[in-house]
Amino acid sequence: MDVDTGIDDALAILTASLSSEIELLGCTTTWGNIDVDQAARNTAYVLDVAGRVDVPVAKGAAGPYDGSVAEFSPEVHGADGQGGKADLAFAPALADETAVEMLLRLSRAHEGELEIVAVGPLTNLAHALDADPGLAGRIRAVTIMGGASFVPGNVTPGAEANIWHDPEAAQRVFEASWPVTVVGLDVTMRSRLDEDDRSRLAAGGRAGRYAADILDYYFGFYEGVTGERSSANHDALAVAVGCGLVSTVVAPVVHVEVDTTHGPNRGRTVADLRGMWRGWPEMAGARHRVVLEVEPGFEARMIDLIAA
Ligand code: BDR
Ligand code: CA
Repeated sequence: MDVDTGIDDALAILTASLSSEIELLGCTTTWGNIDVDQAARNTAYVLDVAGRVDVPVAKGAAGPYDGSVAEFSPEVHGADGQGGKADLAFAPALADETAVEMLLRLSRAHEGELEIVAVGPLTNLAHALDADPGLAGRIRAVTIMGGASFVPGNVTPGAEANIWHDPEAAQRVFEASWPVTVVGLDVTMRSRLDEDDRSRLAAGGRAGRYAADILDYYFGFYEGVTGERSSANHDALAVAVGCGLVSTVVAPVVHVEVDTTHGPNRGRTVADLRGMWRGWPEMAGARHRVVLEVEPGFEARMIDLIAA
């Protein structure tokens, strides 16, 4: 997993690290919701909460691929990325390698088998492709939480946060030869968690109680936007799609690129959905799967898993 551990990333890490159907080999961390040091600390802490200190955590990029200044999202995830619940005294035991080194090492050790689920800005993946373009050929699957194909963005009218933070990195990832499964706002905004879910988590063990604690802040943010104490379940849904915990219902294979201009659509994912049922010739090079609908029911299973 490649993570910028804010609140929904934490739920995704709990899901991946607690599921018996997923072999979580490592977490690489990136800037995005918060700075990369705090992202690494939060990631290691969440793995500790899950009882999975065996999963190595590597620190990655501190800012965008093009060298511009990093902008974080404290209003959404809190200044610590965990809604004020991060243990700031927690001293993480980080891996003795960078995120790029971990990605390349795991891709060689598990050639043809490694699957990447990236749920933050795609800076680490872009740098890893630059360091070794052969990476794309060694990976079985890449799934990202990012983009908005039919629905509006959540940072600007066109752009979703993970792509908006680093459009150039995202474009680098879509240009590589690997097929990317795109789990964007089209489906993640429809994957909802509410106060009933939070109560069930709060009645659970350490992981459940921690998830309930941090969701309190996330619900507060969404309440300010929508008037309702509930939230989207962005990053865990990407884990679920990427690792087969939920099946997709509508997921056409299309060409995707990112608007990297500096106009009003900067960071927008442009998925060519026009010919998805028509087999137009220009679809021949299309390889990315844009998820537009998934089977319902994953959220309840996720709550059970984390609360257990
Ligand atoms: C994405 O942006 C971040 O705030 C979340 O962690 C998620 O990965 C949603 O747009
Ligand atoms: Ca994220």
